[in-house]
Amino acid sequence: MPNPMREYLPILFVGGVIGVFSLIFILAWKREQRTASAPDFDRHIPDSEIFRRLAKYAAPYKKQFLLVLVIMLASITYDLAAPLIVGRVEGLIKDRFEPPVLLRWVALYAGILIVALVCTYFQSIILQKTGQKILSALRQDLFTHIESLSHSQLNSIPVGKLVTRVANDTNAISQMFTNVLVAMAKNVFIVVGVLIAMLALNLSLTLAFLCFAPFLVLFTVIFRKFTRKVYRVVKDRTTDINTYLSENLSGIKVTQIFNQEERKRAEFFAKSEELKRAKQNQIFVLGIFRPMVYMLYISSVLCLLYLGGKGYIQDTTFLWQVVTSETLVAFYLYIEKFFNPIQTLAEQFNQLQSAFASAEKIFSVFDLVPEVTDEPDAVELDHIRGEIEFKDVWFAYEPGEWVLKGVSFHVEAKQTAAFVGSTGSGKTTILSLICRNYDIQKGHILIDGVDIRHIKIASLRRRFGQMLQDVFLFSGTIRSNIVLREEGFTDEEIWDACRYVNADSFIGRLDKGLDEEVRERGGNFSAGQRQLLSFVRTIIHRPAVMILDEATANIDTETELLIQDSLEKMKNIGTMLIVAHRLSTIQHADQIIVLSHGEILEAGTHQELLAQKGRYFQLYTLQFNKQKLLGA
Ligand SMILES: Nc1ncnc2c1ncn2[C@@H]1O[C@H](COP(=O)(O)OP(=O)(O)O)[C@@H](O)[C@H]1O
Ligand SMILES: [Mg+2]
Repeated sequence: MPNPMREYLPILFVGGVIGVFSLIFILAWKREQRTASAPDFDRHIPDSEIFRRLAKYAAPYKKQFLLVLVIMLASITYDLAAPLIVGRVEGLIKDRFEPPVLLRWVALYAGILIVALVCTYFQSIILQKTGQKILSALRQDLFTHIESLSHSQLNSIPVGKLVTRVANDTNAISQMFTNVLVAMAKNVFIVVGVLIAMLALNLSLTLAFLCFAPFLVLFTVIFRKFTRKVYRVVKDRTTDINTYLSENLSGIKVTQIFNQEERKRAEFFAKSEELKRAKQNQIFVLGIFRPMVYMLYISSVLCLLYLGGKGYIQDTTFLWQVVTSETLVAFYLYIEKFFNPIQTLAEQFNQLQSAFASAEKIFSVFDLVPEVTDEPDAVELDHIRGEIEFKDVWFAYEPGEWVLKGVSFHVEAKQTAAFVGSTGSGKTTILSLICRNYDIQKGHILIDGVDIRHIKIASLRRRFGQMLQDVFLFSGTIRSNIVLREEGFTDEEIWDACRYVNADSFIGRLDKGLDEEVRERGGNFSAGQRQLLSFVRTIIHRPAVMILDEATANIDTETELLIQDSLEKMKNIGTMLIVAHRLSTIQHADQIIVLSHGEILEAGTHQELLAQKGRYFQLYTLQFNKQKLLGA
């Protein structure tokens, strides 16, 4: 009779190794907890709500998901049956070697395998398709929502952040639908199925195997704590880099002009390094977890072979059950089938977590309620004459810091009003309030006698043409930049509009004329040309109200004479509101309004204001003398 102590020595040894590893793991975790001061996911939307909102996007595809579930259950058959078949084959070989019988089992195995592969193929095709549909719906909704935000809301979110939301975060969610959820469900089914199969096969061996379970749970829990953190850091760093890139690529010319390349490069390198470190940490944590689980797997297989094998060879029972070689083979394979899903489940759980973090970020953009919206009783103004009135308007960008303080004026339809005042006096603000880019705090703005808050924003902006100092051109062609929102302009109409504002000569000189390519932001055109294009773009839509904010600043004196001429013509189109620094541009305006620190100092025609000898008179003589000086 062998010494029972010695017999179980190998088991004790394996147990000891696992124990030591667990201890190291726990210590590392404790240390990590002490050093980690970073807050957890800054969640403010509960998981249940996120789930509910995500489910809304998946709801139209119920049928597809159900189908996938059925296919998945079919494919699991392979995972559960394969070990049994292999075990059977082993038993057959040992008993009596009969090729035909054997062949039947092998054929069965191959058949199930093929069915499983076909199932997996269709499952992933359906899921990928559905995932892409959900993704594009989400992306489109998000973009539409961002479009509805007011200027001040848009000012408060960096563009890079929005890019990350629309591009990366939506992607994480679609991944969740395509890969994570179904794979997780499948893995859970497999783990449970395998356990049931093992219990049915040999209760005592299963119980011995389950001794490893607590360690598996421990490793997984600790692993999750680590990965949660590393995933979050990776995500934050990615957003960081996107935000930095989108800002600095837009401003790269300024960087070059001011010779700041080195500093910017250093900043970018630092961010890039941080992202690299975060990614490395992520890999490191995964790299520790996988071998740990593998070690548990190997240990349990060793124990099984040792205990089961001992029982089998010595023809005794293990605990109270007989162990056959068939059972041993099947068990060996089942253990593998058990560990694989556990390992991936832990990682999938993290992906799920990260998808939820993305979802939360997306939903918090959705939760920004557009500040400037149509009132329920807002009316459609089909025909806007273009009469504009400000009645004691108070406005502040930041609460309490009044930018406009009781501004009142009245412009009749088809008249021209000009705003004059030093930088920061509130000229641009007044113009953007008329288009309702912001809502005012006190007073009234009336268009044709109707408060603009009672006019549908779309109908308001459709009839307003804004020409601003920095013209934004989209990539496309000259034509696409001119017609913008509406199709159906003939070339003749476009050329007419070009001639109207004297833009025809420069467009005519281009190789491809109206079809000349416009690069991103119109980088291949001069500032003056861009401005002329913005004039064409505006007048072709026959606006009732035209707004020019320092739109003539980039134009040389010669072109300005042309502009002067077209401005005179444009007066026939509709009401015009102009801000121009060159007073010669505006002296024919019907009304000149002089602003200072958000208040109206004086108003009247050029002649009236000169006669008053006030602020306008000062400005005018200053410019007049300067011109004379330059001319001399
Ligand atoms: N988006 C904004 N957020 C906060 N303050 C702003 C914003 N735009 C302008 N301001 C402030 O409002 C004031 C008036 O600006 P603005 O109307 O652009 O002047 P102007 O066009 O006459 O030069 C300035 O003091 C400016 O700092
Ligand atoms: Mg301005």
